[in-house]
Amino acid sequence: MDKIREEDHNQLINQAYENVMGLQQQAAADPHRLQFHMMAPANWMNDPNGLIQFKGEYHLFYQHHPYSAKWGPMHWGHAVSRDLVCWEHLPIALAPSESFDLDGCFSGSAVDDEGTLTLMYTGIAPEGSLHRQIQCLAMSEDGRTFSKFDGNPVIGAPPVDGSEDFRDPKAWKHEGQWYVVIGSGKEGIRNVLLYRSADLREWQYVGVVAESDGTQGAIWECPDLFALGDKYVLVVSPNVEKAKNIYMIGDFDYTTGKFVQESMGELDYGFDYYAAQSFEDDTGRRIVIGWMDIWGANMPTQAYGWAGAMTVPRVLSLLPDGALSVLPVPELHSLRKEPTCFNNIVVDSGSSGYLGELRGDCLELIAEFELPESRNAEFGLKVRCSSDGREETRFGYRVAEGELIVDRSRSGLDASGISRCGLSLPDGETLKLHIYLDRSSVEVFSNEGRGVISNRIYPGQDSLGVDLYVSEGRVRLIKLEVWKLKPIWNGCAK
Ligand code: FRU
Repeated sequence: MDKIREEDHNQLINQAYENVMGLQQQAAADPHRLQFHMMAPANWMNDPNGLIQFKGEYHLFYQHHPYSAKWGPMHWGHAVSRDLVCWEHLPIALAPSESFDLDGCFSGSAVDDEGTLTLMYTGIAPEGSLHRQIQCLAMSEDGRTFSKFDGNPVIGAPPVDGSEDFRDPKAWKHEGQWYVVIGSGKEGIRNVLLYRSADLREWQYVGVVAESDGTQGAIWECPDLFALGDKYVLVVSPNVEKAKNIYMIGDFDYTTGKFVQESMGELDYGFDYYAAQSFEDDTGRRIVIGWMDIWGANMPTQAYGWAGAMTVPRVLSLLPDGALSVLPVPELHSLRKEPTCFNNIVVDSGSSGYLGELRGDCLELIAEFELPESRNAEFGLKVRCSSDGREETRFGYRVAEGELIVDRSRSGLDASGISRCGLSLPDGETLKLHIYLDRSSVEVFSNEGRGVISNRIYPGQDSLGVDLYVSEGRVRLIKLEVWKLKPIWNGCAK
């Protein structure tokens, strides 16, 4: 194995970071540039990587191409935060530089190895006309500069149950041992593979944690496995046409490495959510962040030299009935300004203008509605409405279907389709919506975080109206609280 050329790596990093920082102004000039979501300074971003709270500071790394607004040779971008709200960009952490990762530093995770921040990632090694996916380490003492391990790769080939698709290691410690899950598959059946190690350097293959039933997509990317309450949760990103994040709740046995699934669902039912990764913070919360975009989507922001964003950080928990709850972190309240409140409004089909002058493209809205008498009704809130009525994005509930929807078929540029999420509301229950609206994104959390939908939208700059609607009959809004939200860039929200 050749000695790691650390100086060359540093030079590649400096060059790449300088390039991307030089494009910041151009990206910031985009009217669709997000105001309170984490993004790369410019150019391409996909999966969140290496999420960790290390020495008190939150670290977020991400798949990054610093030379283009399109996907290309993968680097690890890097940002830190004290509160999960305001982020500070740091120099790129990893650039492709060695024989074991020359074609890219793909997704992976971070652990605290007795005070050393250790990244485990998939190196893409050129091998003739092939790309070999192998697992590598990089370490940092200060959480700023990273040295690739000179014993890389630490896992140099897939096990018997895997294939050449063998990537996205997610490592954690349990009772003094290290474990890592890696996404793979074989002969059309996709799987998650488990390894065990005493020191992160020598790994023993344990076995298949879980495998697909043949309906869950082509590859299980970005696996994540963690304890939640008295259960285990396994999350995978199946690389299919309508890519999404599947979660499975069940039990996990460390000795056999087997996960037994009891229930499943999607972490987010929107079009733009993928490659989610979670971590446990110092307060014991399980926090998850997803890539708020998707392979194959139209990305009109590329014209301004950027693409990709992270969702707001979310807390996962199990509800008393065993359902998964996904809710935005309360730290986001620090962004609130100019509160407004509306109470007790009866909405009639065919009428509009219920919220007066309320307008905005960076808003938080918390609404509660009584369920209407008409079982055929769809009701809720619409945002980013244009004055000529041509553009709008709807957050609605369809009573008969028991379904939360986000309709972006009239959301402006390049957006289409309706996202749907089953949400059964027993008699007497109200519909609760918690919405985060940013310049080109919508995220809605319903009733205790039982359903979540995240979508990118690209409306006109003047489409800023907000209103209530019901498709037939009447519905009563019990309460609506609204805040404008401060931007997190340029000095942050303090
Ligand atoms: C998921 C993914 C990962 C891979 C990375 C490459 O979106 O395809 O499997 O590591 O992106 O950027």
